[in-house]
Amino acid sequence: MLSDTEMHVAQALRQAKRVTVLSGAGISAESGLPTFRDPLTGYWSKFRPEDLATPIAFRRNPELVWRWYCERRAAARAAKPNPGHLAITKLQSIVPAVTIVTQNVDGLHQSASSTNVIELHGSIHATRCFDRDHVMELNPEEDSPDRHPACPLCGSLARPGVVWFGEMLPEEALARSISAANECDVMLVVGTSGIVQPAASLGSRALSHGAVVAVVNPDPRSVMTGGVFLEGPAGSMLPRLIDAAWPDSK
Ligand code: OAD
Repeated sequence: MLSDTEMHVAQALRQAKRVTVLSGAGISAESGLPTFRDPLTGYWSKFRPEDLATPIAFRRNPELVWRWYCERRAAARAAKPNPGHLAITKLQSIVPAVTIVTQNVDGLHQSASSTNVIELHGSIHATRCFDRDHVMELNPEEDSPDRHPACPLCGSLARPGVVWFGEMLPEEALARSISAANECDVMLVVGTSGIVQPAASLGSRALSHGAVVAVVNPDPRSVMTGGVFLEGPAGSMLPRLIDAAWPDSK
């Protein structure tokens, strides 16, 4: 049985011409990748972001930072998209314009064959050099925490192609995300604590432009003022919503 709120969102989805999905670490939790702020398993319950996810941290201890990202990269490579990612891919096959704005760096939306994915915080699968941003190729077979490669052009150490705290977001990605929030009829905010800006404000931006905004999250503390809250894990809630919106597509 669907709740009234779920029915309301399903109906809005059915009528929508443009949908934007804003995703965060929670959508990949069911693929076995840790979130950041889960009190027991989240990265930031075990480590301090200022030791691992800032340019200052890298300058202070590049080997430690490289090792951590190397381990996360291996986990992301091994992970498979879950029913939440796949439901979004299905949504893209039904609704004319679906944009996915993700804070995730794991590439799982793309592994689920989704298109039009904006990686607001970059990609863990991309590598560039720390000093000059030269793009570097990393052979997965040689990718090891014990080997920190240097740039063949300038000798600077490799860093992951993600956005760290204190760094600017990729300009074009941010501009496209803002447009996607301004122009959508429905926004699904999935698996994010809504703490890190500017991603966190995309939901209220969509709301102020008249969109129906639905937050999908198992944690009831994630309710967003003005949005509707769908309590549950993405891997079951998103397929339910799509099935309810388009029963013939089951
Ligand atoms: P967080 O770890 O802050 O939040 C994850 C959210 O996912 C929480 O609200 C959980 O309740 C929710 N969640 C957990 N399991 C879920 C499930 N199965 N389905 C749906 N939701 C679930 O992760 P983000 O909001 O993505 O940035 O964090 C934002 C940014 O902060 C990250 O991109 C990263 C981090 O520090 C940088 O490293 C720069």
